[in-house]
Amino acid sequence: MHGAFIVGLKELVVNRFDVSFWEEILEYAGFDPNYYPLSNQELADNKAEVLIKASLKKLNLGDRKFGEVFGNYWIKTFAREKYFAFFDAHKSSKEFINNLTELHKKLSATLTDKNPPVFEIDWQNQNTVLITYHSSRSLIHIAVGLLKALGDFYNDDISVYRVDKNLIKVFYKD
Ligand code: HEM
Repeated sequence: MHGAFIVGLKELVVNRFDVSFWEEILEYAGFDPNYYPLSNQELADNKAEVLIKASLKKLNLGDRKFGEVFGNYWIKTFAREKYFAFFDAHKSSKEFINNLTELHKKLSATLTDKNPPVFEIDWQNQNTVLITYHSSRSLIHIAVGLLKALGDFYNDDISVYRVDKNLIKVFYKD
């Protein structure tokens, strides 16, 4: 997995909770206490999975809440600062959603182990979009949280639901 994802996770834990939580997460996940994630250093998917699961457990939030907390931090703070060009390039959350696969493909282009998530976008009408999430990582709860935060970021009044194992529905209220 791209190192930026792990850097974002660490920042969320340290800045919104406490550094002691991060230390406990590393210990619980069986990581070296000195492990220091870097954006340009990939983390093997199996290790990333253990770290994400340990974070969920230690923060005691549950899948859905964790997705929302992570999504909020990632969109409104982390990516907003470090990947602002993507927000500048998309004028609305609808445009952003249409480009999700392309954006993740671009970001993983330089990785040795490329495995970006793919999002199949199917607009039912101008207010409703079905998003099928394809990834070996099973992080759909994070996708839901990220989409909710994306709506907030662009001031769109949306509802985001997980309707099936790999299916998300986004409804624009106006
Ligand atoms: C500027 C905004 C965004 C940036 C810079 C960004 C960047 C990234 C990066 C670098 C990864 C790691 C990917 C990998 O290692 O293959 C990732 C993972 C992920 N992103 Fe984004 N992302 C953004 C917005 C979103 C949004 C709006 C969604 C909503 C669907 C989303 C859904 C995901 C999911 C679910 C993953 C976990 C990886 C997986 O499931 O395979 N991202 N993102």
